[in-house]
Amino acid sequence: DAPRITKPPPLVVEQFRLSLADRPMLQGGFIQSALPALDAARMSETVKTLSSNKNRYYRSSHGVAAANWIADQFRTIGAGRSDVSVELFKHSFEQPSVIATIEGKGPHKNEIVVIGGHEDSINQSAFGSREMPAPGADDNASGVASVPEVYRVLVQTGFKNDRTLMSMTYAGEEVGLLGSQDIANRFRQQKKAVVAVMQLDMTAFPGAGNRVDFMTEFVSADLTRFSQKLMDTYVKTPWATDRCGYACSDHASWTKAGYPSVMPFEATMSTDNKDIHTTRDLISKLDFNHASSFLRLGLSFMAELSSEGGARI
Ligand code: BES
Ligand code: ZN
Repeated sequence: DAPRITKPPPLVVEQFRLSLADRPMLQGGFIQSALPALDAARMSETVKTLSSNKNRYYRSSHGVAAANWIADQFRTIGAGRSDVSVELFKHSFEQPSVIATIEGKGPHKNEIVVIGGHEDSINQSAFGSREMPAPGADDNASGVASVPEVYRVLVQTGFKNDRTLMSMTYAGEEVGLLGSQDIANRFRQQKKAVVAVMQLDMTAFPGAGNRVDFMTEFVSADLTRFSQKLMDTYVKTPWATDRCGYACSDHASWTKAGYPSVMPFEATMSTDNKDIHTTRDLISKLDFNHASSFLRLGLSFMAELSSEGGARI
């Protein structure tokens, strides 16, 4: 017998990808009513707590404690909801990643929309040190604090998502995107249909003024285009584009695993926060009005991409 060659069916994500750039806006009613519930002050409290830890290094007890604290925040928000869950995703090093899931309902519930940011921090003057101070307020308490705040509004408004929504905080980004790489590769192996991923890494230092800059490398051009439409429709903050020039954050892990990602960033590379990875990456340098644009973008992203139409509340 000739060997039988069966072509694997395309992943759902492949079909979805084609329509990303041209998707219409479907959830204006829900999003306009939910945007005022986003609370930048609550987010800044999270940044304060996270950046008061000695560090969030991926191999330190402080880094593990920070991940557990974030998981507890998600658990508190989701208490009483049977369709939400919180998982610690274990790696080969001490710090786990955290994944909070809001189950979808109906024919699209196996498709996944992700928002995430890295929870770890590093002091570059002491690479490999478990005890060196690394407050990491901008990099990346700012991005990671946005994730539970968007989650809180999605949960507390009772938003009804068709697709499954995952809120992730990644371990070990600062030493080579380790946590996100493990997760994206595992999802790929399991053939999980992740249709869109937003990466939030540094959102509160307005180096180029009140403006969001979209990274153009290691991302999906279509998902980036769609996210820029979200800016114009809901966020109403000016935007531009820039490039890291290398695989600078967790969006690249998803892209390398074959999933569409987007990375909105706080500034241009040339105007950006020069104090990251030092003891000077402090909350005092941050602007939570600037950060609130990313909260609005994150909420719009989760609501629009999780839906295929119909009223949501
Ligand atoms: N948040 C940074 C990436 C970044 C820095 C983006 C400045 C834009 C401007 C991230 O946490 C980081 O430090 N990434 C590493 C790369 C990683 C593969 C170790 C970096 O940039 O050195
Ligand atoms: Zn960093």
